[in-house]
This record gives sequence, structure tokens and C-alpha cells, in this order.
Amino acid sequence: MARTKPKVVITRKLPDVVETRMMELFDVHMNVDDHPFSREELAKAVADCDVLVPNLTDLIDKDVLESAGKRLKLIANFGNGVDHIDLTAAQARSITVTNTPDVLTEDTADMTMALMVAVPRRLIEGAQMIREGQFKGWSPTHMLGHRLHGKRLGIIGMGRIGTAVARRARGFGMAIHYHNRRRLHPELEAEVEATYWESLDQMLARMDVISVHCPHTPATFHLLSERRLKLMKPTAYLVNLARGEIVDEDALITLLKDGNLAGAGLDVFEHEPAVNSEFLSLKNVILLPHMGSATIEGRISMGEKVIINIRAFCDGHQPPDRVLPLQG
Ligand code: DGY
Repeated sequence: MARTKPKVVITRKLPDVVETRMMELFDVHMNVDDHPFSREELAKAVADCDVLVPNLTDLIDKDVLESAGKRLKLIANFGNGVDHIDLTAAQARSITVTNTPDVLTEDTADMTMALMVAVPRRLIEGAQMIREGQFKGWSPTHMLGHRLHGKRLGIIGMGRIGTAVARRARGFGMAIHYHNRRRLHPELEAEVEATYWESLDQMLARMDVISVHCPHTPATFHLLSERRLKLMKPTAYLVNLARGEIVDEDALITLLKDGNLAGAGLDVFEHEPAVNSEFLSLKNVILLPHMGSATIEGRISMGEKVIINIRAFCDGHQPPDRVLPLQG
């Protein structure tokens, strides 16, 4: 007898190839016009589906989960970060939560390096100069920026992405330093020639570039507070492709405005999609619209991970990318 397919609600448009495969496997409810789901739509979706496939723009908080029907047993997040999901509330309802790690590591690390080069080398300013017809010819003091080679990079959060950034930055001739909850295995630490700092404060004060790669959790909200940002050298740069909430944006703006920080490359913002308008007038800042992992290859791989997680779960196995239940 044919098995009934699980009802799967996908909250945003996914690559065609992913949606097509999901249509073959599941009873899929797609978001054809790709609008962000309202809270009412989210509540309606969780009320009678077996699996929800949300993404970082869907706030799956306690209220939304209170609308969940008995059927909802899996939230298969399309994305790595799960800070938009109330995990405590999900756990209380015995809902399994999965994510899509690994497959966006290399793309995010590439984009980190792009920002790390672009800010001190004034890439956007230069490109704009050409477009505006302002390039009047080379001169020895034309468009001077700052060199990365030989500088110290402090990585906050040395997980998959932090480590991938470290490998690339070694190739750029940077010295790698890191702060992490746990020290790396000595072999990996040796491979990327990284110096471990137990004290984030101590590391911040000594680095030329700081790159943020830790997850956003209650413990990392405003980890880079005003006090900590002020520890950074005035010649230092900040790069953030993790989550906007990790950095106190108001304090960052003040430091950048007053020349107490050399520049910043930001792909994420505290109140996305809103961007603090004060950033827009700062020349020493490059702002990107949360596109660190945005490659078609990456999105397809993320979709494949979602499919594998759903299939494993529905077949009665532990899905490979479990965030909940917590693994001891
Ligand atoms: C994620 O998956 O959490 C990323 O932020 C998407 O780029």
C-alpha cells in the first residue's frame, strides 16, 4: 500500500530543482509568489502540517509554536542559523529541529575575504569613481588603502566558517588569532597556525581585523558591546557575516564616525531587512544585503540537506543535521 506523503510547508521560494524534487517526495505547499510569511500565515502553516521548512526570515517564536497542531513534528530549517526559532518552546512540544550546516561554509568564507579585502582597499569607492567619470589618472597617492598581508586577524567563533576563513586568510599572509568557547584540536590549530585567546577582550585590543563567525544566541547578543568595540585599535577593521545582533550597531556607528575604528564590512544587520541609515553616510563601511552564502550551488545543496533531513525523519531515523533534540 502506498504510504501517505507528509505534508510539508515551505515558507519561501527555493531553487526549482529543489522544489521539483520535494514535489516528487512530499505533499508540498509552496510559496509561489515568494512573499515573506506573515505571523498569521506561519500560525496557519504550523497548525496542520507535518513538516515546516522555514528560513531565517520566519520568526518561529513561542506564540507561533502555540498554534502548532499535533502533526507538526519536524522543523527542517533551510539555513544554518536557528536563532529565529524558539528552541526551548520547540523542545517542550517534542519538535525535532534540523538545519543545513557545512554546505554554506566555503561560500560564506569567500565572501568574508571579499569584504576583508574590499574595505581596507576601498574597492567600492574605486568602482564608483569610474562609474561617475571621476577617474582622472593614476598618481602615487591615488586611492591609497591598507595592506592585509602581515596583519593580524582575530576570528570570533572558530567553527566551520571561522576555520575556512582562517585557511584563506593564511593564504593572504595574515597571522591567525581566534577566540572560541573551546580551543581547537592541536592538529587543526597547528594547520592554520592559529593563536588561541581565552580572553576576547585581550584579543580585540591587539588585532588589525576582527571577523565575526559565532552564532547568535542569548549569550552572544551584543558580544561586541560598546565597551568591547572600544578596545579595538582605531586602525582596525570589523567584518561581520554572522548575525547583526552580535554587534552593538549604535556603538559601532559612533566609533566609525569619530575615526576610532578604521572601517567595517557588514553583510548582516541587527534589524534586518532594515539598515540603520547612519551607516549609509559612512565612507569607510561596505554594506551587503545578507548575501554571504548566496550562491546557486549552495542553495541547491541546502535544499538537498533539507530533503535528506525530512526523509530520514519520516523513515524513523535520526536526521543527520539535528539541532533538537540536543545531542549529549
Ligand atoms: C544561514 O543559513 O544562517 C545564513 O545566514 C544564510 O546566509
